[in-house]
Amino acid sequence: MRHLRVPSKKTSFFLAELESDNLLFSGAGVVAIDADFRAIPLCETAPTTLPEKYSNYEVVDIEEKLRGPTSYIERLTAYISVDEFEANKHLWPSSHDQMGDLILIKIPDEIKQYSSIIGKALLAQHSRIRMVMQDNGVKGEWRVRDLEKIAIREGKSDTTLIQVKENGNNIWIDPTQVYYSPRLESERQETLNSAILLKEKLGRPLNIIDPYAGVGPGVVCLLSKPGLVDKVHASDLNPATIPLLEKNIAPFKDNLSEVRIDCVDALMIKNAEMLRDKFDLLLVNLPHNTLEHIFHLIPLLSKGASLLKGWAIIHEEDVDIIKENLHTIVIPHKPNLSEIIITPKRTYAPYLVYASIELHFD
Ligand SMILES: C[S@@+](CC[C@H](N)C(=O)[O-])C[C@H]1O[C@@H](n2cnc3c(N)ncnc32)[C@H](O)[C@@H]1O
Repeated sequence: MRHLRVPSKKTSFFLAELESDNLLFSGAGVVAIDADFRAIPLCETAPTTLPEKYSNYEVVDIEEKLRGPTSYIERLTAYISVDEFEANKHLWPSSHDQMGDLILIKIPDEIKQYSSIIGKALLAQHSRIRMVMQDNGVKGEWRVRDLEKIAIREGKSDTTLIQVKENGNNIWIDPTQVYYSPRLESERQETLNSAILLKEKLGRPLNIIDPYAGVGPGVVCLLSKPGLVDKVHASDLNPATIPLLEKNIAPFKDNLSEVRIDCVDALMIKNAEMLRDKFDLLLVNLPHNTLEHIFHLIPLLSKGASLLKGWAIIHEEDVDIIKENLHTIVIPHKPNLSEIIITPKRTYAPYLVYASIELHFD
């Protein structure tokens, strides 16, 4: 195939030029000739004599570097007929979650009979993936995903205990047993920033509590900042989270003066006298119930400057009324409430948004 030989440093310039002149062949990639030169594939209809602006560059005839499929969808016809593929064209899922070396994919009911084929095509497309699981959605109060194994790479283990990397930290999870969402990574980074400001205000490391800790990604993000935390209490009602929470917090234990990990109902924690008025930072991550739970958790916050950071699913129009309600219920118990910040983050469902809530106390 004919290619235009250009200096490596000008590759992107010529790619754009050839494309706008309709001279580029998009089915093949750029070929590296040597350290200094690249060859850009020309389409069949490109004239033998190229326009004047390309005249200083040689046209060479070399083997094209054909691109592989860019999505697993393009691979499906290796397993099913073109007719079957076309009949379901609008249904093939175009997105999925990746956790460690697992892919989790939601498959519409109408094409569930093709689950294992979708799994095989995903393994073919993503060489580092070990197993593909069909995601049938989250279930129950522990928000655990209902997952089915649909394809496993030959010779590999089918374990669902995996490690993921988040904000530079390694976190053990088992998505078949516990709630975990990689989509909350940036939320946890934001919490870290708020915690750093609180530490500066208090002039000492923080005592933190995460009563809906899951496997602890929120806590781990805070613990990874040296000197930020002194004492930590992390708990969850799902017993399967506890061994993972212990494993994830273990690397930081030596730098903490106290660590408590418990399997307990968050609503019961305030009854433990020793935990009342003790914490500088309280995380409330139970988005469907956060607003009702906040009231029960407030007694855990210390009497001085402190922060409650929560996440809730709310009606987008309700921000002001929620602020008012929170103010009314919190003030009698903690008159040092100084600010309530509610920030809608993203759409959750029509008219519903996932929002972060901060209650600042001075
Ligand atoms: C949305 S998840 C958040 C998990 C974790 N903070 C994270 O960011 O990955 C909510 C967690 O709350 C736990 N949970 C639900 N009800 C609870 C309760 N009453 N008390 C304590 N934990 C509860 C669930 O098991 C789940 O792990």
